[in-house]
Amino acid sequence: VCQLLKIMIVNTARFIISNTKAADCPKEQRHEYAFIGRSNVGKSSLINMLTGKKGLAMTSSTPGKTMLINHFLVNDEWMIVDLPGYGYAKRSKADRIRLEGIISDYILNRQQMTNLFVLIDSRHKPQKIDLEFMEWLGENGVPFSIVFTKLDKLSPSAGKKQIASYLEQLLEQWEELPPVFRTSSEDKRGKSELLDYIEEMNKLPLVTSEHTDA
Ligand code: GTP
Ligand code: MG
Repeated sequence: VCQLLKIMIVNTARFIISNTKAADCPKEQRHEYAFIGRSNVGKSSLINMLTGKKGLAMTSSTPGKTMLINHFLVNDEWMIVDLPGYGYAKRSKADRIRLEGIISDYILNRQQMTNLFVLIDSRHKPQKIDLEFMEWLGENGVPFSIVFTKLDKLSPSAGKKQIASYLEQLLEQWEELPPVFRTSSEDKRGKSELLDYIEEMNKLPLVTSEHTDA
């Protein structure tokens, strides 16, 4: 049977601005989706894969490439945000604290952020830093989804096994699982699932509180 799939098409995607504070981020009321995870997990690569623009977000094989909050406007309608990674051990303590400050200020204060995608390298067992980070999101009522990355580096059966055991461990901590996506920026799997999910959320009204900053 030929199924008619309606996949969101990304026509345009362009860089808007980089900064270090939620208060300085674009003021427009648009749905915004941010990508977070450990350094080198593949955040910037995933953004390039989703938008179909190879050089849009800067990627690097050296961890710690992204140091700022980067906004990209897609289809003149919604925003993608590339965030710095957490947990890069080779950074100085001062740098780590500064980056964590940037990340938490953005996540806790950015009203336009409709969903946070938490990226997890599918090759690794659950890491304390990721589990604690997701717990912190839960405590703060931050809406998030899990995106397993780099699945091209595993055989199909190994990928299935890794993800199943990851989710099993998560269920020891969580009553319910958030949405889960399986991706590879290399072979583009997961692209239409993620874009469809975003498209669904784009249809919802953007809820922001009415307070104004002093
Ligand atoms: P930071 O900005 O440093 O926190 O890293 P990041 O999470 O943005 O990772 P980035 O996208 O820069 O990718 C890190 C490395 O992983 C690069 O060498 C990418 O080519 C590689 N990579 C990312 N995604 C994939 C993937 O799906 N498959 C494979 N094989 N490699 C990937
Ligand atoms: Mg990056």
